[in-house]
Amino acid sequence: MANKTEQPRDHWATKLGFVLAASGSAIGLGNIWRFPYKAGQYGGGAFVIAYVVSVLIIGIPIMIAEFIIGRSAQKSPVGAFKQLSFNRAWPLVGWLGVLSGFIILSYYSVVGGWILRYIWESGFHFFKEGSAGPIFSSFLANPWQQLIWHGLFMFMTMIIVRGGITTGIERWSKVLMPSLLIILLILMINSLRFPGAGEGIQFILKPDFSKLTREGILEALGHAFFSLSLGMGAMLTYGSYLDKGTNISSSALEIVVLNTFYALMAGLMIFPIVFTYDVDPQVGPGLFFITLPEVFARMPAGQLVAISFFVLVAFAAITSAISLLEVVVSYFIDELNWSRKKADYVMGTVIFLIGIPSALSWSSLKGVTLFGSRDIFDSLDFLATNYMLPIGGFFIALFAGWILTHGQKEAEIKRIENTFHFYDIWHFLVKYIAPLAVLVILLQKTGVLPF
Ligand code: PFF
Repeated sequence: MANKTEQPRDHWATKLGFVLAASGSAIGLGNIWRFPYKAGQYGGGAFVIAYVVSVLIIGIPIMIAEFIIGRSAQKSPVGAFKQLSFNRAWPLVGWLGVLSGFIILSYYSVVGGWILRYIWESGFHFFKEGSAGPIFSSFLANPWQQLIWHGLFMFMTMIIVRGGITTGIERWSKVLMPSLLIILLILMINSLRFPGAGEGIQFILKPDFSKLTREGILEALGHAFFSLSLGMGAMLTYGSYLDKGTNISSSALEIVVLNTFYALMAGLMIFPIVFTYDVDPQVGPGLFFITLPEVFARMPAGQLVAISFFVLVAFAAITSAISLLEVVVSYFIDELNWSRKKADYVMGTVIFLIGIPSALSWSSLKGVTLFGSRDIFDSLDFLATNYMLPIGGFFIALFAGWILTHGQKEAEIKRIENTFHFYDIWHFLVKYIAPLAVLVILLQKTGVLPF
């Protein structure tokens, strides 16, 4: 048998397909589950403003950096850093990204499984008043249930990634993202007719700066990373499937605007419900799996709303999960010459296995802690989102700002698009501001800074 020859690299068929796939990666549980409750905790509109500022000065510059690195190397993270620099240390940033992909997807898929289970629950049993809390706790405490739904979510993710770039990820994103928009719009309009709508809108749009503590600002910065899928090479990998003609800066702006727009719509869907039914907006993560089903149970046509809501969240979660799996799979394809089929099935299964301890955090492995008093699930989330993504983002910004030459960068970003000193502003942000801001978050989190 002849050696396996290298396959020509697959490219997105259209710019729209690429923008939808990358927005699909960004828009996920981060927007619909995490953003509303964080906004609830840190002063509504004030948190929104802090988030938008972080997105502008850190998010957009790092996203453009990832696209530039990916497209110029036409490789996934490890290979890209190998190709673009002689220093053998840089590929470690790519390795960190692949490792983050394994870790984040392993527990993201557990939550994805909960969403699938909630679609089923809404469709066949439906929540009755007072039932959501007990249903959620007994579900968490049942190891087999946790494994089955986690496995199902992982399996669905693998099926899409198995299809490849244009015929898998792009095709599915083109169906799922517009459907997501339609369901979200319908649910939002429905919510805006509730008596608590005015209060809900005010809550999300009117800033209460007294609640925006320093911690709130840092949370907003961290959330910008997670919610834009930055720091682990997911956007870098998607950028590596770009052809040379696509405008990187306008794509990044479109993705960021879409991401923020979906997050705000999710807020405008959730808060009117919260205020109408007099729920405390600061309840935290349980808002989603206990409070909302409880509210659906009391609402006219609640079952239909509940099913649509959880289908919506499942769409959002799966388009993010495929980008996490793609980072891992593309490493095995690019660097070890595996076929996509083998990389997808083998690594998907490995990630399922790594997710088992997280899935069992509330049953068989209850009481086991890793970092501080955090259980296994929380520890992995804490490690990945608070450290691995910001550290990865820090080095990606440094690489783009200080290592790549102007020639390399201008070949990607000035091709057809340099207006209003866009390149210079981006370059200043990615070289100085973004790394510095991320460094401050990291040092603050590790307690080195005195505030
Ligand atoms: N951006 C996704 C969300 O908001 O749910 C999560 C995510 C996906 C993080 C892909 C990182 C990543 F590479």
